[in-house]
Amino acid sequence: MFKDRKNSYGPNIEIEAEWKPFKASVDVFMGQDTQWTAMPIVGGKNVSTGDVHAVNCPYDHTLATGQVHWANGEIVNQAIEKADAAYPAWSQTPATERAACLERMADLMEENYAELVAICHREAGKTIQDCIDEVREAVDFCHYYAQQARQNFAAPKTFTDFLGNTQHAQQTGRGVFACISPWNFPLAIFTGQVVAALVAGNSVVCKAAEQTSLIAYRAVQMLHEAGIPGDVLHFLPGNGSTIGTPMTQNERIAGLAFTGSTGTAQLINRTLANRGVAPVPVIAETGGQNAMLIDSTSLPEQVVRDAVRSAFASAGQRCSALRVMFVQADIADRVISMIAGAMKEQSVGLPYLHSTDVGPVIDEKAQKMLLDHIEVMKKEGRLIAQSALPEWADKGTYVAPTAFEINSIDQLKDEKFGPILHVVRYKAKDLDKIIDTINNSGFGLTMGVHSRNETTCAHIAQRARVGNLYINRDQVGAVVGVQPFGGQGLSGTGPKAGGPHYLPRFAKEQLV
Ligand code: SER
Repeated sequence: MFKDRKNSYGPNIEIEAEWKPFKASVDVFMGQDTQWTAMPIVGGKNVSTGDVHAVNCPYDHTLATGQVHWANGEIVNQAIEKADAAYPAWSQTPATERAACLERMADLMEENYAELVAICHREAGKTIQDCIDEVREAVDFCHYYAQQARQNFAAPKTFTDFLGNTQHAQQTGRGVFACISPWNFPLAIFTGQVVAALVAGNSVVCKAAEQTSLIAYRAVQMLHEAGIPGDVLHFLPGNGSTIGTPMTQNERIAGLAFTGSTGTAQLINRTLANRGVAPVPVIAETGGQNAMLIDSTSLPEQVVRDAVRSAFASAGQRCSALRVMFVQADIADRVISMIAGAMKEQSVGLPYLHSTDVGPVIDEKAQKMLLDHIEVMKKEGRLIAQSALPEWADKGTYVAPTAFEINSIDQLKDEKFGPILHVVRYKAKDLDKIIDTINNSGFGLTMGVHSRNETTCAHIAQRARVGNLYINRDQVGAVVGVQPFGGQGLSGTGPKAGGPHYLPRFAKEQLV
């Protein structure tokens, strides 16, 4: 269908080399095929493996997007060996020089932002606004961690005791750090993990989610262009078991940053621990069963705006997204009917159109899991509303935003990562019980609160075991350096990304 659109500059025009990235970006927004390729980058060089996998476009499976050469166990081990050899020199490179590489990376991403938006959009199926936000967040991570490194890693901290003795504490890298990132923030989280590890003085081997290797490959190319030596940063695309298993079994891995499911984080932890070498830090950001608590003093119009954004923006594919909304019974009918009205207004469609609110989910596996859940909920809950899908939706992996009323959060066994909202009514006297049930899920990532009663807000903030609690606003879109992000319990180990305690976890400290 989209291929019928004619390319306004003519598809067969010979394009000058320097315009190729621009042409590719235009192709994306004209609904044309694209031909991006990603490969492992080891020692600064592309490795063509022959194990080539086509990249899926989530909003139209008939569109060609590109291909990825997957690495294998042998390449993973070679990369780790090179990274290990490069670590001493990199860790002794002044932190100010390492920080300067991040600042150059930020500039390069800004200069090439249209290309990054285009790849991210085509490969992850995100809306244009989400892709722009994604580039901005990646840029912010670079500036923030560069500034943190200049402040805390450039010179030793000095302590003097009452006898006049002076001690110096210096932070350095740990060795080879592994970074494993998800598809839902394929540029921002990927870049954030990698640049944090690098600027703290580690060499890095990194793996992006197999659905989104093209954008990660481009980011690694830019990091090398920004001055990160080829032997210090290696890119290893592939699926979890092909790359993750040899990576986590390798005895030289000195620390690992992971964002993804709780189950995978647990597996990573066990594999690293079973190596029989010294324990190493794992920085894991994992799932959530995020709730919003709404009491009768809240403003329904504001509640609906914030709940709809929190649940359905980015097709609900944010770790921070709202999954279960608890509404005080006194105002529940009104809020529920307003939510249903707002959902009817949502436009589900092509993510490159500015009119689109909700795009596709990432792939068929995710789509099936969500559709199965909707079927279960139709029996176990009460359907509140479902947004309309376009008639061509089966070209891609679309799931209509759907809301159900259920009796209890206990009906949800695990996180459903997509545009499905559950609503539970509660009585004011049961507020503490509700908070305890949410805590008992074991997850603790985000929570939203809507109330004009300050005491209620303070009480919930004190009792809820969550990493990020947002009052009278939406609960997605944490801003680097202002809203450090990360959860507790099954939702992650901390420290929070984009916060002042993140970099030290990538480092070791020596006192002299
Ligand atoms: N950092 C994102 C947000 O706050 C979630 O991954 O929405």
